[in-house]
Amino acid sequence: MKIFTTKKEVGDYLKQLQANGKTVGFVPTMGALHQGHLSLLAQAKKQTDVVVCSIFVNPTQFNDPEDLEKYPRPIEADILKLEQAGCDVLFNPPVSEMYNGPEEWHLDIGELEHLLEGKFRPGHYQGVTQVVNKLFSIVNPDVAFFGQKDYQQVMVINRMVELLNLPVKIVMCAIEREQDGLAMSSRNIHLSATDRQHALVLYRALQQAKANYVAGHSVEQIEQQASAVIDEEPDTQLEYFEIADGQTLQPATAQSRSLVALVAARVGHTRLIDNVVI
Ligand code: PAF
Repeated sequence: MKIFTTKKEVGDYLKQLQANGKTVGFVPTMGALHQGHLSLLAQAKKQTDVVVCSIFVNPTQFNDPEDLEKYPRPIEADILKLEQAGCDVLFNPPVSEMYNGPEEWHLDIGELEHLLEGKFRPGHYQGVTQVVNKLFSIVNPDVAFFGQKDYQQVMVINRMVELLNLPVKIVMCAIEREQDGLAMSSRNIHLSATDRQHALVLYRALQQAKANYVAGHSVEQIEQQASAVIDEEPDTQLEYFEIADGQTLQPATAQSRSLVALVAARVGHTRLIDNVVI
């Protein structure tokens, strides 16, 4: 695997491959890689000739400095995992390579930015669009792969690609779960053994919501039932449980063509998100 830390080197290398007709698949990450990331790489390997992964803990998408500081950065272990997964190129830039200083530019993605995660993490999606836009312009991928666990992030990226008319195809890959249903996340590392048990309530509530929807319960009833289940779990603080339109993420209506149930909660000191498409 080739490892680059500068925009110029990685850009030049990939340009040459693309000039020779190779397609580039891109998996942007913040590292602390787990099976969820590796499944994105596996998809990329199936669909494109050259697979590029980036590891960059993007400071502009953290609204809590403590969260940024404690974000795991096991780079040696990550490199090993990428090599074993057959990744071709790793782009691992320092912060100074991505940002010259504070950047104020703002991409207006409308309501999507302020819903759900946006309410609890103001500015988060501006940071995400900032860095993903930069990464796309450096890597120039044909296809980019994102996990469904960050469902709203995928919708935000889709919107950005549409607004800026970027020549990249976005693929959303299914959530990878532990055997007991916990969605894989780099943050799971912070869960104590007891937190880990409490965290299972999120997937339980999502599955119950899906079953209740199939059984004909109203969206309001389902949201209330799911919220009550999570509220009862010790050491677990619900932030939101919503059934939303699968495209706009606005509250579901009879016209919604697809629905998604999304949840965010703090379990102990760790904030977790999860979702299921209904
Ligand atoms: O999902 C992530 O890990 C990050 O939000 C991303 C897309 C790599 C941007 O920093």
